[in-house]
Amino acid sequence: MRRIAVLNQKGGVGKTTSTVNVAAALARQGKRTLVIDLDPQAHATLHLGLMPGRSGPSMYESLTDNLPLEKIKKTVAPNLDVCGSHIDLAAAEVELISMVGREMILRDLMAPEIKNYDYVLMDCPPSLSVLTLNALCGAGEVLIPLQAHFLALHGLSKLLETIHLVSKRVNRELKVAGVVVCMYESGTRLGTEVVEDLDTFFDKRRNNTAPWADAKVFKSKIRRNIRLAEAPSFGQSIFDYSPTSRGAEDYASLCLELVGLQVPEREEIATPDDPPLIIKTEPDEDSVPVAKTTQKPESVKQPEQLPIVSRPAPAPMVYQRPDIAQVVPKPHVMAPKPAPAERETSWTFVTE
Ligand SMILES: Nc1ncnc2c1ncn2[C@@H]1O[C@H](COP(=O)(O)OP(=O)(O)O)[C@@H](O)[C@H]1O
Ligand SMILES: [Mg+2]
Repeated sequence: MRRIAVLNQKGGVGKTTSTVNVAAALARQGKRTLVIDLDPQAHATLHLGLMPGRSGPSMYESLTDNLPLEKIKKTVAPNLDVCGSHIDLAAAEVELISMVGREMILRDLMAPEIKNYDYVLMDCPPSLSVLTLNALCGAGEVLIPLQAHFLALHGLSKLLETIHLVSKRVNRELKVAGVVVCMYESGTRLGTEVVEDLDTFFDKRRNNTAPWADAKVFKSKIRRNIRLAEAPSFGQSIFDYSPTSRGAEDYASLCLELVGLQVPEREEIATPDDPPLIIKTEPDEDSVPVAKTTQKPESVKQPEQLPIVSRPAPAPMVYQRPDIAQVVPKPHVMAPKPAPAERETSWTFVTE
């Protein structure tokens, strides 16, 4: 059984979306898969179509009362079970604090399930808390979702340090499987630069004994796709909600890579689903005139269906790549995306 903690202490980077959709993809491949929702926000539980609290006991009861996972898990699709969360789980943090061996509770709870599953995916909260430590002690691997933006690497060192400590002190098996880039803006220079920075980051820190010695930046990047953002409110994975979307394509590809299969090559193009950010990478000497920042870099292909609506541009945002990547920081200027005209923006009523 592969036990994968999906972890990044930052919120909103794609942990829950990746947990749910990778799990759904694995289940569709015939792998017996269990999702353990360790986030009190219970987003994975909701995303998989369960109402937190209404479907019986949850991870809170398991962790605090030692209730076997068997008693709380629910089957939500063929080959796909979930141990749900509930806001009560936030209290477990406090209740567990005085307990001896509190980081090992989940590992012990998972032991009887080893024979029942091929994959267990743990959706972690956006913190390095007792719940996260339980995931790290119970996991064999860590999958790190990371949002492709200019502060992408910020916090990665801290995360790796925690993983290193856990691997040294309590879980020697623990390895970093890799980083998956989420909300990737295909066809933009920023997206490419984030991936380059990640490669540099890992290459500079590789040593044979580190848990990230074999970590990779997954070739399958998860492009920004509105269907992925819509699916949770329908309680469905992307494969049920929009099987032909780019989100489904990307997560199916990531699943193949995770199980060690060949991923089909694909052309990287900007698409109407993924309107590119308009970025200017070279800084101007003085202040940057707004008009200049709205020029498209040549590498960005602008989709024909999305004419740029002319409107007064707000002041540009000036930022730098994080020095954590130890590359010469290049100042960037980013202007907001052009407003997509004639595009469905109300996701509540979207039909495909
Ligand atoms: N590739 C994507 N394209 C568009 N929206 C996404 C994508 N991945 C995640 N989202 C949306 O971004 C938000 C944060 O993602 P989520 O997976 O909940 O992050 P986390 O679990 O790290 O907090 C959610 O609303 C989710 O639907
Ligand atoms: Mg989440």
